[in-house]
Amino acid sequence: MDVGRIAESVNAALVVVTAAHNGERSGCLVGFHSQCSIDPVRYAVWISRLNHTYPIATRSDHLGLHFLDESDHDLASTFGGMSGDDVDKFAGVEWSVGDFDVPILTNCKTVVIATRVTCLDDGGDHVGIVCEPVASAVERFRPLRLLDVQDITPGHPSS
Ligand SMILES: Cc1cc2nc3c(=O)[nH]c(=O)nc-3n(C[C@H](O)[C@H](O)[C@H](O)COP(=O)(O)O)c2cc1C
Repeated sequence: MDVGRIAESVNAALVVVTAAHNGERSGCLVGFHSQCSIDPVRYAVWISRLNHTYPIATRSDHLGLHFLDESDHDLASTFGGMSGDDVDKFAGVEWSVGDFDVPILTNCKTVVIATRVTCLDDGGDHVGIVCEPVASAVERFRPLRLLDVQDITPGHPSS
């Protein structure tokens, strides 16, 4: 099944997921994400096992979910086109330490801090992290979408 062609039609909005653990911080661009429960509210993000972000996001109790606006192509490029294995992505962006020590990208207007509830590991190359939103700053935005970042090559192979 050509899921890739379906994904192009769906044209998912993009988020940057950030996390910190044991003094290390990381973050990556994510297209695999969705609300996955209404009551209680749950939100899931799927992170590649090979990403620098993976061990930090799966050990941290909290994640930062940054919903990118169409003006955030530079952030998408930094967090989707580079790996924390090679560079400190946070050196090139404005950020601060938020609630629960979550790294917050200060230029993003719509940000959710979420508590990790569980991980879903079915043996695939991405692992789901299901979270409960506990704090948010929300403004209306026009999402940056998959087809807006076709020029960005993922900074880390997924397999
Ligand atoms: C459009 C796009 C969507 C992506 N979606 C995901 C995703 O859903 N989950 C994921 O783990 N990586 C995804 N990536 C890949 C990572 O963002 C990318 O490999 C990043 O450089 C990894 O950084 P890290 O090694 O510092 O964690 C995506 C990349 C792009 C360009």
